[in-house]
Amino acid sequence: MSAIVQDSSAAIHGREQYTFFTGGMAALAGLMFGLDIGVISGALDLIGKAFHASDQAKEWIVSSMMFGAAVGALAAGMLSFRLGRKLSLILGAILFVVGSLFCAFSWDIQSLIVARVVLGVAIGIATFTAPLYISEIAPPEKRGSMISTYQLMITIGILAAFVSDTLFSYSGAWRWMLGIVAVPGILFLIGVTRLPNSPRWLMMRGQKREAREVLTALRANKAAVDKEVGEIEEQLRRPQIGWSLFRQNSNFRRSVFLGIILQVVQQFTGMNVVMYYAPRIFEVAGFQGHAQLWGTAIVGLVNVLATFIAIGLVDRLGRRPVLLTGFTVMAIGMGVLGFLLHIGTHDLAMRLFAVAMLLIFITGFAMSAGPLIWVLCSEVQPTKGRDFGIAASTFTNWVANFIVGITFLSMLNGLGNGPTFGIYAALNVVFILFTFFFVPETKGITLEGIEANLMAGKPLRHIGT
Ligand code: BGC
Repeated sequence: MSAIVQDSSAAIHGREQYTFFTGGMAALAGLMFGLDIGVISGALDLIGKAFHASDQAKEWIVSSMMFGAAVGALAAGMLSFRLGRKLSLILGAILFVVGSLFCAFSWDIQSLIVARVVLGVAIGIATFTAPLYISEIAPPEKRGSMISTYQLMITIGILAAFVSDTLFSYSGAWRWMLGIVAVPGILFLIGVTRLPNSPRWLMMRGQKREAREVLTALRANKAAVDKEVGEIEEQLRRPQIGWSLFRQNSNFRRSVFLGIILQVVQQFTGMNVVMYYAPRIFEVAGFQGHAQLWGTAIVGLVNVLATFIAIGLVDRLGRRPVLLTGFTVMAIGMGVLGFLLHIGTHDLAMRLFAVAMLLIFITGFAMSAGPLIWVLCSEVQPTKGRDFGIAASTFTNWVANFIVGITFLSMLNGLGNGPTFGIYAALNVVFILFTFFFVPETKGITLEGIEANLMAGKPLRHIGT
């Protein structure tokens, strides 16, 4: 009788919902990420005036957060292994709240930079741990779309920050812009305390019974639980971990480098140039005052909407076609925008055309590299080196993000508008080739299957097939 009840469709539905609730909660880490990325663009100009900041100081105010995030992502590798994924997320949430309040109460450029570093550490921990956690609790056929949901939360966070910045801009209240994000931070903190531990992590620690309990609540039936427990056990029999695996195993080094390069690629699309400096780009294109911030909010909205394209396509069409399309769209958007800014946007029609190109670029990113790079980075690492591999790629995401943030205004001032955007357009063309030759198709295959192919020495492009 109990077996019948256990496998009844209502019970299965309940468990599916629980899986989504759990993944959704972890994806809220994405919301925090997005709020952090988005919040600075609208505040930057006001902060610049309040603290008399030069363009260089502004680059540091923007980029100090990414520096902290790089440090946080590095520490997160160790934390998520020792404390577990859940406690790491809790720690990230606490630092997030503290960091946001510290930003709001900063008294000069230096204190704001330190506060942004704290905020960054929080985000580094969360952005490392959340995708890792999601990939460990998601069933294989839902993995891609669940991680894309994480990206959706990032974009919603960015949009929320853009809109809130715009509303606060009427009173010039930049401290409110920076401080208000502590509120969702507190909700996130409450949410993550209710998450179960990752079954994989529990089994790594020898807590098989607890792992079974979690999986029983997450999977459709006992057979699925048994199968997954068996697979995880099989994986864990291999002795090495992290750094030693990296030194000894060239196949693992390949997946680590693939993750690193994928994140460099994501950042050098130029997406965050737009995220951090959109009001400035609107200014360059000839828009004034509040129009710059409303324009930025529209950018944020398109970023959210186009992410749905990715969610719909990633587990159906696969990773490679979506990425190839995305980089092509981005190259076109950036290239034409650069050209328009180079010749000058003299009338309204040209200005609107420039905005359209910016939105096309955003669409290209959001439908492809935004979510898919995170999906791939969490999929390609073998179990024993997963923490290390994802730490390396997440760390790289923030270092590359830092480089993009710290150079953009100097590039605009030094090279001019056209060449600056032209360089990003050209990079997107290079990324089309990179995807074609090196990126694997990981649609529908289990993490264990990918691992077996990687370790058997198959070329990277084929580890998913
Ligand atoms: C990237 C962020 C970016 C965001 C934009 C994420 O996938 O890692 O750097 O700001 O997408 O939506």
